[in-house]
Amino acid sequence: MMDINQACEAFKKILEEQQARIANMNTEKTDFSTKKTVTIGVVDGDGIGPIITKQATRVLEKLLADEIAAGSIVIKYIEGLTIENRIACNQPIPSDVLEQIKACDVILKGPTTTPHGGTMESANVTMRRELDLYANCRPVCIPEKNIDWMFYRENTEGEYVLGSRGVELEGMAVDFKVTTDAGTKRIARAAFEYAKNNGKTHLSVVTKANIMKKTDGKFTALCHEIAKDYPGITVEDYYIDIMTANLLKEPLREKFQVVLLPNLYGDIITDEAAQLQGGVGTAGSANIGDKYAMFEAIHGSAPRMIERGMGDYANPASMIKAGAMLLRHICRGEAAAKLEKAMAECTVEVFSDGSAATAAEYTDALLELL
Ligand code: IPM
Ligand code: MG
Repeated sequence: MMDINQACEAFKKILEEQQARIANMNTEKTDFSTKKTVTIGVVDGDGIGPIITKQATRVLEKLLADEIAAGSIVIKYIEGLTIENRIACNQPIPSDVLEQIKACDVILKGPTTTPHGGTMESANVTMRRELDLYANCRPVCIPEKNIDWMFYRENTEGEYVLGSRGVELEGMAVDFKVTTDAGTKRIARAAFEYAKNNGKTHLSVVTKANIMKKTDGKFTALCHEIAKDYPGITVEDYYIDIMTANLLKEPLREKFQVVLLPNLYGDIITDEAAQLQGGVGTAGSANIGDKYAMFEAIHGSAPRMIERGMGDYANPASMIKAGAMLLRHICRGEAAAKLEKAMAECTVEVFSDGSAATAAEYTDALLELL
């Protein structure tokens, strides 16, 4: 519990740290088209993490077998990002694990359990910040319903980045939300570039700027400033509440192509979108920065599935799709296309109630198609 002076001190420190963060944003880009050796770090996580990560790794190992043999791709297995070890070290990512992660170019990361309450930050939030992974890209595609959406979720700011740094005073708690010019412009630029390079002509900016006037107000204004450089793209603003409804509204939803939004709204709406596609277990995501990138499922570690003894029935499709995004990011587009085609053709299904194939059986079938 703090008194008001201590809370002001804590807030002052946060503001100073955020100013320092903006000043130190690194924009050095990794060029994977010319990089001689690409190191992929594989981090298991916990809960269903190790189960589905193992299956995604089998797929990558098969698709990249020649390059692994030739040494142009190196796969490094990094242990220790379990909830037990994180609690034992009292660090969201133990220092030695973070050091190994930073020695890689890209990371395939299994879900990690996020402690509820307390002050321990989520491993996801720490990794996104430490590697400066500012763009969380989440595709949702349902061809038979004419849905082809790409969400660009800001990934290093918003409520998340200060979510473990709130203050508690007698009878009240206050959390902080931060939106910076530099942070907003770079995610907006990334979303518009994606749209331009992929023939998309519609981009929605989704906020709650009528209520969060400073932060979301800034986000919207800056997205429109960046939009001026992309005259071929129609930009529309929506508030997050009506947008969650619009994703269910036919045929209106078919017009959405790229959706650009701050961190927390992006977190929430992408689970809804994924559910329309078949469940969160069917959706992968790419956390992209200028230097590093990390690929993961959009969901958490599902501890309840483990408690029920159903871990083997976790759907590995989310992680395998993340693997396809990883391949595309490191300029292995042919392997990515091959994998996506095999996934579209694979008829084996995995359900969390155990009524169909296990994660391993699904992957066996998929490997046959590669
Ligand atoms: C996601 C997840 C994470 C988040 C959790 C696991 C911290 O829900 O990637 O969407 O909230 O960002
Ligand atoms: Mg989420």
